[in-house]
Amino acid sequence: MEQITLKSPLDMHLHLRDGEVLKSVAKYTAKSFSGALVMPNLNPPILNVDSALAYKQRILEAMGEEKFNPMMSLYLTESLDRNELLKAKDNGICFLKLYPKGATTGSENGVSEILNPKILEILEIAQELDLILSIHGESNGFVLEREAEFHQVFIELAETFPRLKIIFEHLSDRRSIAVVEKYPNLYATLTLHHISMSLDDVIGGALNPHAFCKPILKTPKDRDALREVALNAHSKFSFGSDSAPHLQGSKENAKGAAGIFSAPILLPTLAMIFEAHDKMDNLERFVSLNAQRIYGIHASDKQVILVKKPMAIPHEIHGIVPLNAGGSLTWSFG
Ligand code: DOR
Ligand code: ZN
Repeated sequence: MEQITLKSPLDMHLHLRDGEVLKSVAKYTAKSFSGALVMPNLNPPILNVDSALAYKQRILEAMGEEKFNPMMSLYLTESLDRNELLKAKDNGICFLKLYPKGATTGSENGVSEILNPKILEILEIAQELDLILSIHGESNGFVLEREAEFHQVFIELAETFPRLKIIFEHLSDRRSIAVVEKYPNLYATLTLHHISMSLDDVIGGALNPHAFCKPILKTPKDRDALREVALNAHSKFSFGSDSAPHLQGSKENAKGAAGIFSAPILLPTLAMIFEAHDKMDNLERFVSLNAQRIYGIHASDKQVILVKKPMAIPHEIHGIVPLNAGGSLTWSFG
């Protein structure tokens, strides 16, 4: 049977939540990835090192026997200071996540004015300590223009802090690719959903709340351009799923929560896409080697085997509807 082995795959943007949801979703990431960058937008958010370390412990417990490296991030607010950032570094926490206030799920505590003196002071220290800044890059303008309207912030930060690694998270608009390419300290993550779906999948037929996410899926041209970047394993881009579980009720009722739960199907679906475009040789660079190089992560000895065998996607997993629920894949786990 045809099979491929991926060495030390990494998911560089992941929501694991907490409590019962964490326990339900952890195993899907544990069996697919050697590590993941875990997002801090819990309720309440992970604002300091002590809460990040306690959360890391709960994640490790939820991962059970699987060897897994949860890379923790701190939610960037004005309350961070040099001592806390030094403590983060000492405890192996290397990521700050910046949410513009109100931009997405769990961003209520985000930053309202990014280029203000206090935030710039924190970023100066982050640069000095070699921390990495992950950004949800959206303005509060018209939904399809939000990412493009945010370019200027990326540019100003990249120019002000040339030695700070800045990650343009879940890049969704093809106009953003050139921005990442232009600045040596800018990098990006790409999700499965933004490289494989468009706004038509959300509102082109019957309304599909399970394909609703922030940043919103864009045009077919954006999808195709992003997919090319992934298929070529562009050296400034790594894989970050933004798998974001919400209970079925909060997706389908009036709350309309943004977030796509893709963790159970990520690698088999990527294998299908890379195979269909005759780029299977680039898959390991996209899901593993690029992240190792960009973020300075050591590969673990974990290997994930995928086999060419049909896999049915469940309709629902512990009350959470996964991406492409009820569908099937031509690749599955070995
Ligand atoms: O769709 C999204 N869901 N985008 C985000 O930025 C956050 C995420 C979530 O936490 O649900
Ligand atoms: Zn996210």
